[in-house]
Amino acid sequence: AEIVGEETAELTLPPDVPPPIERDHATKLIANMEVIEKEMRLADGVTYTMWTFGGDVPGKFIRAREGDMIEFHLQNHPDNKLPHNIDLHAVNGPGGGAESTFTAPGRETVFTFRALNPGLYVYHCATAPVGMHIANGMYGLILIEPAEGLSEVDEEYYVMQSEFYTEGDYGERGLQPFDMDRAIEEDPEYVVFNGSVGSMQGENAITSERGDQVRLFVGNGGPNLTSSFHVIGEIFDKVHYEGGDRVQNNVQTTSIPAGGSAIVEFETEVPGNYILVDHAIFRAFNKGALATLAVSGEEDENVFTGQQLEQVYQPEGGAVQEIPQEERTIPAAETLEEQMEYGREVYTSVCQACHMQDGTGIEGAFPPIANSDYLNENPDRGISAVVHGLSGEITVNGETYDGVMPRQNLTNEEVANVTTYILNSFDNEGGRVTPGDVERIRE
Ligand code: HEM
Ligand code: CU
Repeated sequence: AEIVGEETAELTLPPDVPPPIERDHATKLIANMEVIEKEMRLADGVTYTMWTFGGDVPGKFIRAREGDMIEFHLQNHPDNKLPHNIDLHAVNGPGGGAESTFTAPGRETVFTFRALNPGLYVYHCATAPVGMHIANGMYGLILIEPAEGLSEVDEEYYVMQSEFYTEGDYGERGLQPFDMDRAIEEDPEYVVFNGSVGSMQGENAITSERGDQVRLFVGNGGPNLTSSFHVIGEIFDKVHYEGGDRVQNNVQTTSIPAGGSAIVEFETEVPGNYILVDHAIFRAFNKGALATLAVSGEEDENVFTGQQLEQVYQPEGGAVQEIPQEERTIPAAETLEEQMEYGREVYTSVCQACHMQDGTGIEGAFPPIANSDYLNENPDRGISAVVHGLSGEITVNGETYDGVMPRQNLTNEEVANVTTYILNSFDNEGGRVTPGDVERIRE
């Protein structure tokens, strides 16, 4: 195809994607990418010196058209400490451009390549030690739209998974240095979407409206792990697996290799929060690979009803009158020490699954009951959450939660003990709850 005209590409920071290409011809497209090394948030209280393409992790999203002649400018900021380069998987040519773009701090290099193959491609730094440059955040996505364009959708987002290998364990505060041994072992402390824990949660959640068509450009920067990419509660209507032309329909989980991608598309039929995860699930709930897609709009009971019934279940039929749990006897706790001991047993067997052993909960899903302003302001709320359950929006220590805590089937004694236990643990402000208090809240 003939090259007509010249323009400068608009690059976007995650989770945004540049607008679809309207051109019906190939052009000379100028792409400017500046490498910036800077300390950034990895998780609450945790920072990391990120090496970035364009100031964020993942790097800026590049959108071009099949046939474009891309003049690529790589600028290495003068304040940086190291040389960098770029290998774009969309390039046909040695090193994907790596040798051509080796750039010292305070320098700029330029090379040109033809976008021959449409698809969604990863780019990354390939300066030695390559693994370390990638582990420090040097990756992003470049989309080469096919000449005929992509189908029209309502929302497009840029999501990229990657791992961080820190010297401190998950959550350990402060500026965390890179840990080469952990990287070689492929044993990351963090697995995240878009460069940090919680990058797309709360007010930063990505959004859509009921009935919208959503397209996610999903990449995996690695450096090591393959992603089992999944959206809880959604089915991908279409997946351009491996970022190529072929489409697979009706997919639950798609595999995205390190240095690979996928384009997933689905309609959001039902309002609510949908959680993006790596379904290698400990990475999601224990290493950070969680993000939220918040869908607004009217319910559609033809697709999903929500809970319609919750009642006593008696497998033996009406003859069984007693709920066996009533017979369970635990010794009545007299002292605070006894309440704490019995309460801790209840906590371990019932509450810990969601609120975690140390009461810190799970960001975006289960609120902390450690040092909880919500609980300390009125301890009856703790009793009520346990005996009645709790749902709807609440704010705990400045974070909003909109989840559902199921009502727990526990005796008044047990509830008194477990709430006393949490009030006197995890930095909470203390207090005692009696079975009488529980009875009062139950009524
Ligand atoms: C909220 C305690 C079990 C999920 C809360 C709150 C307390 C609490 C005090 C209020 C918010 C806060 O202070 O952080 C307990 C205790 C439990 C228990 C003592 C055991 C007896 C569970 C379990 C789950 C769960 C098993 C998960 C299945 C939640 C959720 C919320 C919450 C999602 C927030 C609800 C909303 O957003 O409205 N819990 N919890 N809890 N809990 Fe639990
Ligand atoms: Cu680099």
